[in-house]
Amino acid sequence: AVTAKIAPSMLSSDFANLASEAQRMLNCGADWLHMDIMDMFCHPFEFPYTVFLFRICDTNSLLMQAEAVSGFLFHFLELTGFFVACLQDGHFVPNLTIGAPVIESLRKHTEAYLDCHLMVTNPLDYVEPLGKAGASGFTFHVEVSKENWQELVQRIKSEGMRPGVSLKPGTPIEEVFPLVEADNPVEVVLVMTVEPGFGGQKFMPEMMDKVRTLRKRYPSLDIEVDGGLGPSTIDMAASAGANCIVAGSSVFGAPEPAHVISLMKKSVEE
Ligand code: DX5
Ligand code: ZN
Repeated sequence: AVTAKIAPSMLSSDFANLASEAQRMLNCGADWLHMDIMDMFCHPFEFPYTVFLFRICDTNSLLMQAEAVSGFLFHFLELTGFFVACLQDGHFVPNLTIGAPVIESLRKHTEAYLDCHLMVTNPLDYVEPLGKAGASGFTFHVEVSKENWQELVQRIKSEGMRPGVSLKPGTPIEEVFPLVEADNPVEVVLVMTVEPGFGGQKFMPEMMDKVRTLRKRYPSLDIEVDGGLGPSTIDMAASAGANCIVAGSSVFGAPEPAHVISLMKKSVEE
């Protein structure tokens, strides 16, 4: 059977005191530490107001031209292939968080399970650096790994990390089935319950259908939910079958994080 894992999202912590924030969460009963690693993941079409137009100069380099364009023009450019190179390069950044050097520094202070959630366009580039840095779990997004998920899973395992796959709210759950059913499968499925990018957003209850579908199909899979989880949403997630719970603002914003963590753990274990 699956066990409850409560994973505070360090995105909501005081980055300047990461080691003590991590220790504080572990003292409060956290099982995992959730580390959000972002370069560019959010689809540019979802940022219709201020977007940057990258102009491709030659095959390898991109000249950044800060030009605001409308969402439609942006989409048109993308459809016509203009954006393919910059999307693949992964330097278009709506939010930047942490990377392998921070994981490496944190690892010197704790033996905790570091649950890394890669919201990046090229997860393969991060496998070795994160493995060497001491990451425990490596969860990539299915939307950017259609071509190479088999290679990714294999390399994540050979770096000694636990492979997971995540999906955005708009991605159908069927897309992760092959990864769970493969000969060399992912061991965690992380269902996004907000649009990835930022902490503190509102939980999307309609994502619970995905969790129910997964739990029915895979009774012993680690099913993780991420975004907007806290005392008022935990029961929905737990009863749908989620057992790994990421929570940022609800834990870090609480006067007593230990209370919130134990309440969520109880809800999963019931
Ligand atoms: C969002 C991140 C989440 C986020 C959760 O892109 O993947 O892990 O930090 O934060 P809350 O719990 O505040 O929604
Ligand atoms: Zn996350």
